[in-house]
Amino acid sequence: MSVIAMQEDIVAAGTVQAETPFFAVRDIHAYYGESYIVQGVTMDIRQGEILALLGRNGAGKTSTLRAIARTGNPALKSGEIWLRDKPVHTMRDFEAARAGIQLVPEDRRIIQGLSVEENLVLAQVAPGRGWDLDRIYSHFPRLAERRNQEGVTLSGGEQQMLAVARALARDLKLLLLDEPYEGLAPVIVQEIERILYDIKELGITTIIVEQNAVAALRLSDRAVILDTGQVVFTGTAKELLDNPQLRNEYLAI
Ligand SMILES: Nc1ncnc2c1ncn2[C@@H]1O[C@H](COP(=O)(O)OP(=O)(O)OP(=O)(O)O)[C@@H](O)[C@H]1O
Ligand SMILES: [Mg+2]
Repeated sequence: MSVIAMQEDIVAAGTVQAETPFFAVRDIHAYYGESYIVQGVTMDIRQGEILALLGRNGAGKTSTLRAIARTGNPALKSGEIWLRDKPVHTMRDFEAARAGIQLVPEDRRIIQGLSVEENLVLAQVAPGRGWDLDRIYSHFPRLAERRNQEGVTLSGGEQQMLAVARALARDLKLLLLDEPYEGLAPVIVQEIERILYDIKELGITTIIVEQNAVAALRLSDRAVILDTGQVVFTGTAKELLDNPQLRNEYLAI
């Protein structure tokens, strides 16, 4: 907030009203055993934004997502994570999921032996119901066509769609996507982009980790770059794309 805007607030309300961010990560530090990996990450996201979390291999992107989803590994040793007024840093993984934070890991975790539909129905069993099957199938026609097929036999792109659909079957407020485009053909990447854009329009907030920085930035409002577990850039996607030094140093684009 600018000084002028703050002064206007003071005049208007007699006191400074700081706006509560939709999602805020405040100086989090996380460890795998003795290994200190997430080294003071801070970021804010507004509702309905897509934020690209970028950086070289081993920069700590996956670890940051796992810390936010409260997986316990890496263990969060200090810092705060807030989903509006909910202290996510005090939660366990299932509590964070119930609060609306859904992590789609790189391997997508489609459950073997279950059909597409059974994977979706299973996601709806836990508290915090999201979309019903009709709504999911209307947004994911490929899944509707394949509802009786075993989930693990889907193509890579279809499995990624199923993983996102499964997150929507829960109460989804913040979607954490780890390398959703990995191994997918450009035409499938575009199809998933359309889905992510669709759900953004519905107010869902997303953090996307991608090696394919160009594709991630095409979709994103803002970006954060990590290097050795620390934030080295926060800004708009355009600011990053317009900065050849950052592109070259951290994104190789
Ligand atoms: N389970 C683990 N135990 C110990 N160290 C780990 C573990 N998982 C990751 N690390 C280390 O933490 C650091 C960050 O890894 P992380 O997977 O978060 O990086 P990343 O940015 O997601 O990389 P990539 O782009 O290759 O996926 C790396 O040095 C990695 O070796
Ligand atoms: Mg990773």
